[in-house]
Amino acid sequence: MTPFARTMRRLNDRFPWSHNDHFHPWIVAGLPARRRGAIEVGCGQGALLARLAGEFRHVHGTDTSAAMRADSRRRCAGLGNVTIDAAQLRDLEPDTEPEPIDLITMVAALHHLDVEETFAEAARLLSPGGRLLVVGLALSATPRDFLWEGISVVTNPLIGMMKNAPPRRGGERVGGPDVDPPPSERPRDPFPVTDPTMTFDEIAEAARRHLPGARLRHRVGFRYTLEWTKPGR
Ligand SMILES: C[S@@+](CC[C@H](N)C(=O)[O-])C[C@H]1O[C@@H](n2cnc3c(N)ncnc32)[C@H](O)[C@@H]1O
Repeated sequence: MTPFARTMRRLNDRFPWSHNDHFHPWIVAGLPARRRGAIEVGCGQGALLARLAGEFRHVHGTDTSAAMRADSRRRCAGLGNVTIDAAQLRDLEPDTEPEPIDLITMVAALHHLDVEETFAEAARLLSPGGRLLVVGLALSATPRDFLWEGISVVTNPLIGMMKNAPPRRGGERVGGPDVDPPPSERPRDPFPVTDPTMTFDEIAEAARRHLPGARLRHRVGFRYTLEWTKPGR
């Protein structure tokens, strides 16, 4: 390992942050005007589910991992408008959901799924004016992808330092544990993970086929975002 890589690893271990939860404010800022039903695909430990429950009449979280569904249920205990199961989009119908579907979200979940099918199913299920908001991972292939990967490498510890900053006098800590456990004692990924197999351009191409007008952007944190509004009203 090079000295640079060693330094970056040490900094990243010292200042950890969730690259997925980091995008929840982006999702909340992009919510549709009508907020009846939402589907959160690959809901993991349920943090976004709980956040969406305050915004929508009904929120449906799906995850194929029983352990994740149990975590989500614990996180959403007491929230009467949240349903959690292992449903796949292909098995759902708009008129059998408790509410018309105005939002579908996926955070670090799309690369676990068949992208073409998922885009087609999201377009089918959403109500006119409904929104698909995706935070995803892609394989780097082009100079632009590698530039963004480099930006993510450099900004990763800086964002971590900001999120782990001690509170100003009288303020609250921005995020992260008060005392970081040593890396050996820190849990690895708390949810099932897999590596992305599609590039940003391939995902954009699939979006052009199923989600005309979708906006994809490279992001920090080794992520991209996709947002799409179903035409009509
Ligand atoms: C990397 S985790 C992300 C979890 C969560 N969205 C977050 O941001 O913390 C991916 C999640 O997708 C779930 N998953 C994988 N395949 C799935 C599928 N076909 N349908 C629903 N969830 C799935 C996994 O069990 C896992 O919880």
